Amino acid sequence: MSQLEEIPSMTSEPNQGRTPVHVPVLRAEVLAGLLAGRDPKTLEGWIVDGTTGAGGHARVLLEACPKIQLLCTDQDPKALEIATLELKPFQERVRLRRARMSELCRVIRKERIGRLSGVLLDVGVCSLHLDHPERGFSFLEDGPLDMRMDPDRERSAADIVNNWDESDLADLFYYEGDERRARTIARRLVELRRRTPFLRTGALAEEIARAVGGAGGKTHPATKSFQALRRAVNEEGDELIAGLQAAEHWLDEGGALAVISFHSGEDRVVKRFFQEGQRADRWELESKKPKQAESNEVRDNRRARSARLRVGLRRRKGNRS
Ligand SMILES: C[S@@+](CC[C@H](N)C(=O)[O-])C[C@H]1O[C@@H](n2cnc3c(N)ncnc32)[C@H](O)[C@@H]1O
Repeated sequence: MSQLEEIPSMTSEPNQGRTPVHVPVLRAEVLAGLLAGRDPKTLEGWIVDGTTGAGGHARVLLEACPKIQLLCTDQDPKALEIATLELKPFQERVRLRRARMSELCRVIRKERIGRLSGVLLDVGVCSLHLDHPERGFSFLEDGPLDMRMDPDRERSAADIVNNWDESDLADLFYYEGDERRARTIARRLVELRRRTPFLRTGALAEEIARAVGGAGGKTHPATKSFQALRRAVNEEGDELIAGLQAAEHWLDEGGALAVISFHSGEDRVVKRFFQEGQRADRWELESKKPKQAESNEVRDNRRARSARLRVGLRRRKGNRS
């Protein structure tokens, strides 16, 4: 896993000419999906980027479509700091707001921007979480056992590991991480935490590796358990559904929703959401299959290998307040 380059300070210039903080995946495909056949030069109205991150996709959209405006939201204040710099050249057409996906409806209403031309959700973590051990997402480098993308969330990964029942922990590792050794891991963690609570990612990763018999395979033995914890801490399942519903509510007829997910469970949720919407005539699908990165993109950016992009077009306005 790569280490993240230094986060630019608030006083530095936009991130031009430097290594990007986060490389956005499927850039051309996201742009084409959100345009949905509309001319980028004449496309007007508002697009919401509900997971702005370092602002990479937002920048692509602003560069390609000179008349659109962007509402850029993210739950992580650090991400918004970076995006503020990245999108500075476009500041006349951009509003940056700190919000979770579950707060999108409220923010869109408050900003009085009305119907949307497009919505982008690129869910999950980004380099700015994974490559910064002090955020507590890394099983390769030691840090506090935190994993909160939104630092104001009450519950950290340490709270879960040290307080949940053994059976709840096992279910979490199994269902949210697809971890087949979930019960063994949960049993060991509960046994060990009686003596010393888990407060560091390094100790947790080490004990998970011991529980499953060491690091034999290609991936670190703690990968799946860490993913499960991250998903629970940030309530990623519920957040995604809230984001999809907000897009359905606010998109104009013909507007596009593009969703990138990195986890098979998440992609299933998006697929089902669009399929049900298609049956009810609320969505039209570009394709049944998700788009994936070409081999040259995967070669340059390993993270792109698990990205799945699904795009839907809003069909009917339906009831909205
Ligand atoms: C994969 S990154 C997005 C990268 C971005 N598209 C870019 O080009 O730089 C995901 C971002 O979504 C944010 N995020 C994840 N879940 C969120 C949620 N429920 N609400 C708001 N932001 C969220 C994370 O904080 C992170 O910054």
